[in-house]
Amino acid sequence: MKRVVVTGGGGRVAYGLHFMLADGDLFGPDEQIALHIYDLPEMQGVIEAVAMELEDCAFPLLHEIKVGSDLNQMFEDVDCAFLVGAKPRGPGMERADLLLENGKIFIDVGRALNESAKPDVKVLTCGNPCNTNCLIAMSHAPKIPRKNFHALMRLDHNRAQSILAKKAGVEISSVNQVIIWGNHSATQVPDYTHVLLEGKEAEKSIDSSWLSDEFMRKVQTRGSAIIKASGKSSAASAAKASIDAMRALFFPTPDGEWFTSGVCSNGNTYGIEENLIFGFPCFSKESGEYEIVPNLSWNALIKEKIALTQKEWISKREGVKEILRKL
Ligand code: LMR
Repeated sequence: MKRVVVTGGGGRVAYGLHFMLADGDLFGPDEQIALHIYDLPEMQGVIEAVAMELEDCAFPLLHEIKVGSDLNQMFEDVDCAFLVGAKPRGPGMERADLLLENGKIFIDVGRALNESAKPDVKVLTCGNPCNTNCLIAMSHAPKIPRKNFHALMRLDHNRAQSILAKKAGVEISSVNQVIIWGNHSATQVPDYTHVLLEGKEAEKSIDSSWLSDEFMRKVQTRGSAIIKASGKSSAASAAKASIDAMRALFFPTPDGEWFTSGVCSNGNTYGIEENLIFGFPCFSKESGEYEIVPNLSWNALIKEKIALTQKEWISKREGVKEILRKL
């Protein structure tokens, strides 16, 4: 049985996540889960109602539900943590506008992970700005390996895969080797240069000016487009991407496939500065470890854009240096 905690358990993203988790979407049909639902004291009624609904679904894999507002109790012995709880952005905002307000939440979350979670807990930060929040939580959880901290860049990866499949008229499952480099912000770099469509290079079947312009922009601005259209940020797609992102860490990646995750840059082969949570292509091994796909080539455009996203990220890190524990 696996113990899973979801913070921000009464919010819209979590509302999707709980039911996918309880239905076995993360660990499959043979593994029961205990679901810990954390939210602030004023949200207790909401998460109690979520727990009632979960019970009413009679999910065979849902062994236990815990709800509460005590971080240490909710993080006790968890195998994986979805850090969803954070204020979402609204119309006209950039994710970075949430930096200080949300960043502080991740100090306590990091400490609770450090004190109460299993030492090999896998952590996925979904609340925005997710790369920065992930770095803050990681810095306050020195007992947990840095490799175990991830920021949700799978949403951008899924968006890129879907857009490319639609453009090329192929099945989503035949779109491979998508990468989103950098920060989950408008400067992220959706890299099409290694993408394979039904095993063939995307650049051979899709117009390269569309790829380097419309495709990249569409992925970069998809979160804003959803907010502009509805007044609210993405929820169900973020929940689905969170499941995909965590699942990719627990199961080996099929040969020839990669997944994007925002991971600690230490030891990367690309010259990206250390102590950034940066989107890289990764693959998981049978051993349960994952690695960054090494030594891929960058063309001039991708190189220039990666330099920009890195520069932006470093400036955001400056903005939270007061709340980062020494790395
Ligand atoms: C997204 O990309 O949809 C989320 O990060 C929410 C947002 O603020 O855009």
